[in-house]
Amino acid sequence: MEKLWGGRFQKNTSKLMEDFNSSIQFDCKLYEYDIVGSIAHATMLGKVGIISEEDAKKIIESLKEIKSDIDSGKVEFKTEHEDIHMNIEVLLTQKIGDIGKKLHTARSRNDQVALDVRMYTRDKVEEIIELLKEWLKTLIELSEKNIDFIMPGYTHLQRAQPVLFSHNIMAYAQMAKRDVERLKSWLVIHNVLPLGSGALSGTTFPIDRQFVAELLGFEQVSMNSIDGVSDRDFIIDFLSHASVGMMHLSRMCEELIIWSSQEFHFVEMDDEYSTGSSMMPQKKNPDAAELVRGKTARVYGDLMNILTLMKGLPLAYNKDMQEDKECLFDGAETWIKCISIMIPMIKTMKICDKNMENAAKGGFTNATDLADYLVKKGIAFRDAHKITGEIVHYCIEKNINIEDIDIEEFKNFDKLIEKDVYDFIDIKNCCELRNSIGGTSSMQVLESINAMKKYIKNI
Ligand code: ARG
Repeated sequence: MEKLWGGRFQKNTSKLMEDFNSSIQFDCKLYEYDIVGSIAHATMLGKVGIISEEDAKKIIESLKEIKSDIDSGKVEFKTEHEDIHMNIEVLLTQKIGDIGKKLHTARSRNDQVALDVRMYTRDKVEEIIELLKEWLKTLIELSEKNIDFIMPGYTHLQRAQPVLFSHNIMAYAQMAKRDVERLKSWLVIHNVLPLGSGALSGTTFPIDRQFVAELLGFEQVSMNSIDGVSDRDFIIDFLSHASVGMMHLSRMCEELIIWSSQEFHFVEMDDEYSTGSSMMPQKKNPDAAELVRGKTARVYGDLMNILTLMKGLPLAYNKDMQEDKECLFDGAETWIKCISIMIPMIKTMKICDKNMENAAKGGFTNATDLADYLVKKGIAFRDAHKITGEIVHYCIEKNINIEDIDIEEFKNFDKLIEKDVYDFIDIKNCCELRNSIGGTSSMQVLESINAMKKYIKNI
């Protein structure tokens, strides 16, 4: 089969090379972008008179037909046409003959592919921002519905201080907000049109790049043709943001997995989002959460893939860059799938508030409050810390909680301790008194929920 670039060749490509070289198996995903990009290019060629308006119209009409043929599964892409760009160009010339051959005027596959991949990424960025918005709404809903539930907050996975369950959940909302901000910054930095860079040095034709940028919704046109064809920062940034976003989901999943264990039993996943064991009839496993945690590794891998791919490449285009797509597609699709499963997973999960509260009551999570109490009675914090430590030790020996100590026993540790101590170390009060900005009191949590609602409205 003759290649579009076959003129200077005396021999055909070997079959082995043809297979090795082709990317159509995966870049076929870009067909929509390739066609939209070509339509804009043809429109511009016609407008400035590089080709006739009539030819431009013909090209555009048949590109639209090709799109609907591909949409409806009528087209079989061919390995011998290497990639999506040449497959579509061949289809076009099959349809309208010589006129189709004019489309590639003032364009190279190098700026063409840079454009297609950028438009794909931009679409994914916009799609994920919308999904994260849904995710944020889900987190807010979960927090609002369970606003007063108390759980132990942990450090070192040891019970530390009581916190509101809603406060813990809203921590993940803060992370998701930063994920949205990172994606928005992608749009500011990378919404740049590379088409018009030619193979690497621009073109001798009087093209109108600004016009193409407007047609395709780009804020800027690239200002250096060499960079235009060889920049893949937009993929690196995207996969970097995806990695951070996945890390956030993964951390939450880790907590949910721990909380689902019988030892904790803070939550129960709905049957719809759990699976059983083929051998152990009693099992119900939080597989969705585990898979999100596992898939985080793939997305990190995708980021490493693109970073390593780019590190040694001289300017400008190198064929290595054909390898930029699978990691991008995988990273984007995985991130989307993971957010999509987490939304219903946490919507349907049961919150076992009594178990959480009981856990918060154990483990001396109110010890800091007792120390704070002593400080408020006039004792220096370091001394208060020591006295409280001794009290905790006493409780461990007797296997009781701090609030179980009666007032006379308390006074043995320090005579300044009075009856009001019980109120002060009540775990509900422990939460409510932490009313500093961003603290775990219900007032602060409600503040943060309201601020987040406002934020979502403006995404
Ligand atoms: N399939 C190629 C890629 O994905 C398109 C660009 C090919 N350019 C070239 N000079 N061979 O990178």
